[in-house]
Amino acid sequence: MHTSLLKNTIEQLFANGKGILAMDESTPTCDKRFLAHGIPQTFEMRRNYRQLIATTPGLNESIGGAILYDETIKQQTNNGIPIATELLNAGIIPGIKVDMGSKALAGFPNEMITEGLDGLRERLADYKNLGARFAKWRAVITIGDGIPTKTCIEANVQALARYAALCQESGLVPIVEPEVLMEGTHSMQRCYEVTEQTLKGLFEKLYQYRVDLQGIILKPNMVLAGKESGEKKSIDEVAEATVKCFLSAVPATVPAIAFLSGGQSPQQAAQHLNAINKSYKDHLPWNVGFSFARAIQQPCLEAWKGLDANVETAQKLLYHRAKLSALAHRGAYKF
Ligand code: 13P
Repeated sequence: MHTSLLKNTIEQLFANGKGILAMDESTPTCDKRFLAHGIPQTFEMRRNYRQLIATTPGLNESIGGAILYDETIKQQTNNGIPIATELLNAGIIPGIKVDMGSKALAGFPNEMITEGLDGLRERLADYKNLGARFAKWRAVITIGDGIPTKTCIEANVQALARYAALCQESGLVPIVEPEVLMEGTHSMQRCYEVTEQTLKGLFEKLYQYRVDLQGIILKPNMVLAGKESGEKKSIDEVAEATVKCFLSAVPATVPAIAFLSGGQSPQQAAQHLNAINKSYKDHLPWNVGFSFARAIQQPCLEAWKGLDANVETAQKLLYHRAKLSALAHRGAYKF
């Protein structure tokens, strides 16, 4: 077991209030976001965009690690430097998304199972050679009429546990991401219950599969009302429900929780994270930070529009949102 190596990587990722930038959109997801902004959906444009992110001046003041996609970890900058090396040289640890996406769970309408365990041991070794020091696997849990089922949760947390064990065997820190989706008409209370059930099931499986909890990062959703519920909750209510839920389900041994933004606006995600740290930091056993994608990238992508002339402005926006996320990590966000 590589406990000290894993702990050391986690400490570096979160040092001085830094957090993780998720820039690991799969090609279909990245293309969908490019399409929405009129950006051509090509290999080269995706490379340009990831280069823009990796070369943003000062990004390492707020970002300790960046999660890459398979295509990106094999791409190079205009100067022929691998993007992973560019990040490393800037003081940002490269990580890699290793799941193969979520697919329909046969026999369970509207539920998903994440695939990608076959050959994972060998892929992890390859990614390690390319510079990755941590990995990510995302499971998707949907709330709806009669769902999630117990079967869907069990299948997904089992895959997460098998993935996490393989990562630790290879010396990579697993980011364990069970995402309860915000899409839907459910109440915040329902999100609370499903998140708690999912996390309890997850930690039972991690224990069963002999995963060392000191060597993982948990990447969960916050406890929020469904996007189409019409329910309005204050920032403090979200922070309180989220903290209560995690205290009831996440063992104190876990060193760090890094929230995903899940479709909240950049401001909302930062405000919620800020409230959690501002009001509860001293009473929480874990470091509570961020691993945002949209909540850091959105203004940057909108400004870039795929044009070289906009790179500098876009980088400034990325730098700014990363900075604000790091302030929220310390409970010092101003808005
Ligand atoms: P968002 O912050 O956009 O939800 O993305 C985080 C992520 O990495 C999802 O897997």
